[in-house]
Amino acid sequence: MRDFLERLPKVELHLHIEGSLEPELMFALAERNGVALSYASVEEVRAAYDFSDLQSFLDLYYQGMSVLRTAEDFFELAMDYFRRAHAEGVVHVELHFDPQAHRVRGVELSVVMEGLSLARRRAERELGLSTALIMAFLRDRPAEEAMTLLEEAAPYWEMLDAVGLDSAERGNPPEKFVEVFERAARLGIARVAHAGEEGPPDYIRGALDRLGVCRIDHGVRCLEDPALVARLRDERMVLTVCPLSNVRLRVVERLADHPLPRLLAEGLNVTLNSDDPAYFGGGMLDNFLACHQAFGWDRATFRTLAGNAIEAAFMGEARRAELRERLEACD
Ligand code: HPA
Ligand code: ZN
Repeated sequence: MRDFLERLPKVELHLHIEGSLEPELMFALAERNGVALSYASVEEVRAAYDFSDLQSFLDLYYQGMSVLRTAEDFFELAMDYFRRAHAEGVVHVELHFDPQAHRVRGVELSVVMEGLSLARRRAERELGLSTALIMAFLRDRPAEEAMTLLEEAAPYWEMLDAVGLDSAERGNPPEKFVEVFERAARLGIARVAHAGEEGPPDYIRGALDRLGVCRIDHGVRCLEDPALVARLRDERMVLTVCPLSNVRLRVVERLADHPLPRLLAEGLNVTLNSDDPAYFGGGMLDNFLACHQAFGWDRATFRTLAGNAIEAAFMGEARRAELRERLEACD
């Protein structure tokens, strides 16, 4: 099965590029940029990754990314991840990035964009890895700040495949960002949002009805609301589920308790993703393998999940056709 899951052409729709920062690179960049870390070693960093909920993770996540200062840092961050993803059979990556978390440290959007753009071109050319870019708004910061960011991103609107909504979910409902998402819609930019990870099913409804999203990141708590489940099924709404993330952030106790089998049984349009691979114990292949171990899924199930992601991805139709063929040929 491992061999099959490695060969399976995997498309990743839910990844925070800042969450792909491995402790080794964190230390190297800290040294290069003269940034002080509160850890003595790589081992100490890894030992600190024992989270009780989303907020306890976010505290370390924002601290960890403080080593990212120059365009070269963002280039290395992304290339480091693209190489690992490619090595485990990932063929397309859609990366969220968090400009506000860099801006508050004095790192401008142009710096982030320069590094990420260079890495995306390099990955395409050298690894044959296609990518898409999702600029995320931090939902625990003011909506006005998100609107300012969207306006400042004008030189890059063409390069954005979507805008997204992440960070601390509870107490920050989608409705807070209606104006920003309406502006993005008028600009012709697609919208996605985290909803129903820690937040209630109503946040999923809010994201659909008020933000006009074309997919829901996480969405696992939809199961608490049967009418919502029916709607998600009828609309074939994509859910970007992140199994190892949900375990590490205690959305579920153990992977065996994860609602994934129920989501599939309900006929929902599920995809598997890694979220923050450096923090949550592994990338795409580890997530697929863990699901095989926990649920005993067969090849057909994994093929369906990989196919759902190919159909939902922000990519040109020629690339989609190519990946459909690769999936078809993988047995
Ligand atoms: N949830 C919400 N916000 C995030 C996450 C997550 O898992 N990772 C990075 N930002
Ligand atoms: Zn996420």
